[in-house]
Amino acid sequence: MTDKLWGGRFDEDITPDVLDYTLTTDVDVRLVFADLWQDIAHVLMLGRREIIPVENARAILGALLGLWERHERGELRLRPELEDVHFNIEQMVIEELGREVGGHMHTARSRNDQVSTDARMYLRRVQLDAVAANLALVDVLLSFPEEDLLAILPGYTHSQAAQPVSVGFWKTAHASMLLRDVRRLRGVFDRTDESALGACALAGTSFPLDRELTARLLGFRGVLSHALDATSARDHLIESAAAFAIGGNNLSRMAEEIVLWSGHEYSLVEVPDAYATGSSIMPQKKNPVVAELTRGRAGRTAGTLVQLLTMAKGVTLGYSCDLQDDKPYLWNAIDTYLSTLRIVAGQTKGLRFNSARGEDLCWDNFSTATELANYLVSDRGLPFREAHHVAGSLVGALLKRGATLRDTAAGAEILAELGHPVDAQTLTGLFAPRNAVTSYTSPGGTSPQSVEAVRAELRQAVEGHAEWLESTRGKLDTAHAATLRAAREIAGGADFAKVLDTVTADLPLTEQR
Ligand code: ARG
Repeated sequence: MTDKLWGGRFDEDITPDVLDYTLTTDVDVRLVFADLWQDIAHVLMLGRREIIPVENARAILGALLGLWERHERGELRLRPELEDVHFNIEQMVIEELGREVGGHMHTARSRNDQVSTDARMYLRRVQLDAVAANLALVDVLLSFPEEDLLAILPGYTHSQAAQPVSVGFWKTAHASMLLRDVRRLRGVFDRTDESALGACALAGTSFPLDRELTARLLGFRGVLSHALDATSARDHLIESAAAFAIGGNNLSRMAEEIVLWSGHEYSLVEVPDAYATGSSIMPQKKNPVVAELTRGRAGRTAGTLVQLLTMAKGVTLGYSCDLQDDKPYLWNAIDTYLSTLRIVAGQTKGLRFNSARGEDLCWDNFSTATELANYLVSDRGLPFREAHHVAGSLVGALLKRGATLRDTAAGAEILAELGHPVDAQTLTGLFAPRNAVTSYTSPGGTSPQSVEAVRAELRQAVEGHAEWLESTRGKLDTAHAATLRAAREIAGGADFAKVLDTVTADLPLTEQR
């Protein structure tokens, strides 16, 4: 027998390098709040159902509340030799109350349902933080001044100049994309927000558990009933990693635009000095390192998704130790994604777009050739295919002369030769980038009124998400406070049933499948 909590059947203890290889106390630091909350809920349920002697349950609740206070003061340390957070807390309770009393805590549960529940509780918080960070960034993107509605940027397809757009149009595009990330996170939250507690090792238990009671106390929307599924499932973690990876990719695409456009050759945007660094040798350099790292770190979030998929794919149902590596993988993606969202918001606030440069480029890069084709359709009744051909012939002829759309006298001459005369002044009106931008009034287009309409739509979506975020955070806080309150009252001698029936009346389950 060894003195491990599981030591009964062993003659020899594990070696220090085996402990080192298998422990999770380092990553479990993030789960302490969840594990304690969960322990308290579990013991409240054990006492309520009289699965363990109520006086022991009371004493354990007292000990757990003491540990909670120590945790809040930042004084709770996990000992690596106790392997993980679950054994650490159980050992602390036993050290305080003795095995006779504290040894009752782990009745009718397993570390398998515990760890799954802890991770769900932590992940819920992270998903809400990610929603909040996305909403903050979206708010930065949507808070642009009116002049951005006519500040010109070349729009690209194939990385080739396509049509002029406005800075406001670019900002709302990224906001629109990020709000989909928010919806994705909310979807994943929904599937994370189910309690695995009470599934025990894999098969349930013979003790008369109340899984709904613990689910309510832990603020879950429902119970993930099937015990084997509840202990085995990691798809909500993989899906979270997918949400972080997709979000990271979206931020990376914005970052790539900033990196490219801040270069001398584009000179379309300047990042704030505070988000760039210099060169050790080249005095002129201002490197957009935050944007570069945003782009590069999409590799980390994407990598986590692949790590988790690969880690889980061969694991048969029921817990296997492979699964414990879900946490360090995921923590890495969480830290990367959240820090990136926050720093990108700061950088985005300080971006300075150079509209004059954008307009200049659009005069030179033939971005408004489509306007001539559209004019020949609406003013002259040409079929679009024919009009496209005429405008294309003009572009070809101007290029041969080394001219651009600015050279409206040359343009008028060429069009007359092509049999579709348009005077130079009309051409100037057609080819002016601002006129083009103003004219794209279709829903979702780049005209000021279309961008304003989309901005209003997006703002409304932000409001809805912000309300959901606040009420969901509120629900979790309420459940946590209620659990502590019930534990305090009962540890102080109150009746389990009386306290819990009152407290849970305000903690509804809302599960829909
Ligand atoms: N520390 C473990 C983990 O992180 C907890 C579950 C361990 N369960 C077991 N049967 N070994 O996944």
